[in-house]
Amino acid sequence: MTESSAPAKIILLGEHAVVYGRPAIAVPVSSLRATATAEPGAPGSGLHIFAADLNQTLPVNVHSELVDNALIQTARLLLQTLNRPALDLVVTLRSQIPMASGLGSGAAVSTALALALNSALGSPLDRAQINDLIFQVETLHHGTPSGIDNTVVVYEQPVYFVRGQPLESVRIGAPLTLLIADTGQGALTKIAVGAVRELYNADPQRIQPVLDEIGALVLEARQAIELGDSVNLGKLVSRNHEYLKILTVSSPELDILVDAALQAGALGAKLSGGGRGGNMIALVTEQTAPHVRTALARAGAVRVFDTTVGVT
Ligand code: PMV
Repeated sequence: MTESSAPAKIILLGEHAVVYGRPAIAVPVSSLRATATAEPGAPGSGLHIFAADLNQTLPVNVHSELVDNALIQTARLLLQTLNRPALDLVVTLRSQIPMASGLGSGAAVSTALALALNSALGSPLDRAQINDLIFQVETLHHGTPSGIDNTVVVYEQPVYFVRGQPLESVRIGAPLTLLIADTGQGALTKIAVGAVRELYNADPQRIQPVLDEIGALVLEARQAIELGDSVNLGKLVSRNHEYLKILTVSSPELDILVDAALQAGALGAKLSGGGRGGNMIALVTEQTAPHVRTALARAGAVRVFDTTVGVT
């Protein structure tokens, strides 16, 4: 029996603008994970995925071209890439990551599955190949992803991401403590990305400068992160939220949580991911964390996680 896993992720800055070639910074949330356990199946039984959280068993037909479930697609692409037949295996998947909330749950579950299958086959694929594979799956299911989600999840390290460019990791100058608060409203990234596209197409002269501003503040934020300057980083995070509002991807609930976090002493706060629901993040210190957490819960957050980035 082998176990593989992959983390959740959050986008610190730059979502949406990253689709248009601007940089973005994302970090793994290693405390929240998707796990895949592979066990040998009966001879001739083929490959089955057991999605434990949904109590669903999915048989994998390697030769089908049907674009169906993302999990089946992941397994099939992996076997097709390696030109291998379906092996007699049962892969059980479990995830602690809330779905459709900007935490990369889809990418994490697919990655855990791909890692488990790869390991059952003697690890012929390296991380870069797994990353390409998960990107293909994301493309089938989310339209035009920038690739940031699969990259941060597969490599499990803070990334400075520019679409189509080689991976750059970000050095964390001083640990970042973040609270991640869930509005409780599921949101589909594809719809938010489509709405920004419509906005952009309708008035590129107005939207282009917003994307440029986001790109510029991400560059500045990278420096602040590397220097351990959380105060400046917090300001940039909050400024990023204002630009995301212009892109129409915030929501009243997200704005309420952002305001509550700032009033309770957070250094910065913004929505994270596709927006229009899902999660927001607040950059806090050890001292302010309990106050901000309480304020977020009072303001309607259905769940508040904390994570510290940059602690080895
Ligand atoms: O998967 P989410 O909801 O964290 O959002 C992905 C980030 C976007 O920039 C909105 C889309 C993308 O493909 O980069």
